[in-house]
Amino acid sequence: MTYLIAPSLIAADMTCLGDEIIKVLRAGADMIHFDVMDNHYVPNLTLGALVCQGLALRFPQLIIDVHLMANPVDELIMQFAKAGAKRISIHPDGTIHLNRSLQLIRELGCEAGLVLNPATSMDCLQWTRPLLDFVLVMTVNPGFGGQKLIPYVVDKIAAIHSSYPDLPISVDGGVTVKNIAELARAGATQFVAGSAIFASDDYGQTIAAMRHQLP
Ligand code: DX5
Ligand code: ZN
Repeated sequence: MTYLIAPSLIAADMTCLGDEIIKVLRAGADMIHFDVMDNHYVPNLTLGALVCQGLALRFPQLIIDVHLMANPVDELIMQFAKAGAKRISIHPDGTIHLNRSLQLIRELGCEAGLVLNPATSMDCLQWTRPLLDFVLVMTVNPGFGGQKLIPYVVDKIAAIHSSYPDLPISVDGGVTVKNIAELARAGATQFVAGSAIFASDDYGQTIAAMRHQLP
């Protein structure tokens, strides 16, 4: 099984993002999770496409995994695809025409993900599955880093995995060395982790400890 670890930049030192990326890549990260919050879909406001573009130019091989917590999303999908994002995920309530927005992500050459908030039903996967490269299951409510994982979401991950065994499941929010094994057993293979990595003293040790927990 191939597992992917994606440190979330939201928890990095904002005064030196490039250096933080070098450090986590050396520490064994597979990609960088890039949280876009628009002060509308969620209260917080984070990073825009200019920052993504700067990082993509400096690190051409880097997989930038853009998570759009925004409404509407179509204009941002275009901006981030142009800025060098490799993966873009959107929430079903971030757009009026979900099918069209997911298609747009792929048309622009990116992998498309659908994000399910903790209380969002997995039903919408039934009619979006052909358009998806992955599903991003929120294990906290979107909008802030450093929250605690909501335990019932583990059952949802297991339910999604059993209905769609070929659909890669990414998990986002409150992922730690302590709970990563349980998430993997439920069917997750991609792990976004912000504070667990960037607030630790040794990124390499933390990522190694996460991998050590994986089956
Ligand atoms: C939450 C974001 C997450 C979050 C991860 O709205 O989508 O990516 O910042 O950070 P931690 O791991 O600290 O919960
Ligand atoms: Zn995220």
